Amino acid sequence: MTETFKAWSIRRYGGPEELIPVERPLPQPGPGEVLIRIRASAVTRADTMMRAGIPRFARAFLGLGRPRRDLAGTGLSGEVIALGEGVTRFGMGDEVFGETGMNFGGNASHICLDETGTLMPKPPALNHEEAAVMCDGVLTSLNFLREIAEVRAGERVLVLGGSGSLGSAAVQIAKAMGADVTATASARNADLVSSLGSNRVIDYTREDFSRSTARYDVIYDTLGVSSFGEAKGALTPTGRYVCPVLSAGLLAAMLRTARFGRRKARFSATGLQKPEALRTMLAELLAMVEAGTLRPVMDRSFPFDELVAAHRHVETGHKQGNVTLV
Ligand SMILES: NC(=O)c1ccc[n+]([C@@H]2O[C@H](COP(=O)([O-])OP(=O)(O)OC[C@H]3O[C@@H](n4cnc5c(N)ncnc54)[C@H](OP(=O)(O)O)[C@@H]3O)[C@@H](O)[C@H]2O)c1
Repeated sequence: MTETFKAWSIRRYGGPEELIPVERPLPQPGPGEVLIRIRASAVTRADTMMRAGIPRFARAFLGLGRPRRDLAGTGLSGEVIALGEGVTRFGMGDEVFGETGMNFGGNASHICLDETGTLMPKPPALNHEEAAVMCDGVLTSLNFLREIAEVRAGERVLVLGGSGSLGSAAVQIAKAMGADVTATASARNADLVSSLGSNRVIDYTREDFSRSTARYDVIYDTLGVSSFGEAKGALTPTGRYVCPVLSAGLLAAMLRTARFGRRKARFSATGLQKPEALRTMLAELLAMVEAGTLRPVMDRSFPFDELVAAHRHVETGHKQGNVTLV
């Protein structure tokens, strides 16, 4: 009898109901690949947007009429159960975590991944659920704070959306980098954000940061809830507004500030960077985990059969940190 594996398929762009459970023949690892038994996978805002095919310009990469790769999910953690020819980085039984990139298929029971991809040994300090979400908010926020915003110790950093996946990681990372951190959050999330290391919390439902006299070296708008134009007045003369949510306005501000003015607007697509660069950043993040200065914030886990409900939950926009499928 042919061995099979379970996955979730997206045949066309649309709502969570477009997610269909499927069983397919279990692949054998090719040269340089490992077969992973997945123990936990991430369910992210980006996953829900890719399922919906929004923003529409993203379809140029995902597939114009329908998803080019029909499987859901990117971040995952599990153990190696078969080795392809020539694999040197991993051995049988190794616990690993990483992401599939544009190949997708992370929300599954098994997957074959190239050992030279974004794949790392899972440290005992993280359980599978925590490891599965490392490549979403945690990796993205290190990339944005250090590479894109170039935060230096002692700088004042404002994190917009301190209770989300990106924001909850950003508060911890900025703090560990020696920044003075302020974050926005609703009252119900204020204690969480303070416990992550934020020196101040602004309740965004009551106070508009852009109307205050406080000035920041970096404004990291994790949710795209502001804009360079709105944030500019709250930046120091050489301040940077960085945002992971691409829009026509952000693109125009980036192009304009790249040539004119000392205040800058910047964006990056973290997942499109080379795997070697992402692995180097992940190694630094694991060192922070070991040092006790970073821990992914976990919202809740859904059973494997409930990916539709997990997408609905993520799409409420109210999760605290990260969601997984187990
Ligand atoms: N460019 C890249 O490399 C990259 C990589 C990964 C993700 N992304 C993008 O990053 C974005 C953020 O994702 P995420 O997973 O961090 O979001 P998320 O976890 O879904 O954010 C939800 C959190 O934000 C809070 N929130 C909602 N509205 C807010 C507001 N106006 N001000 C402050 N906080 C608010 C919510 O709390 P309350 O509702 O209780 O206030 C909730 O805790 C997504 O658009 C994703 O696609 C980009």
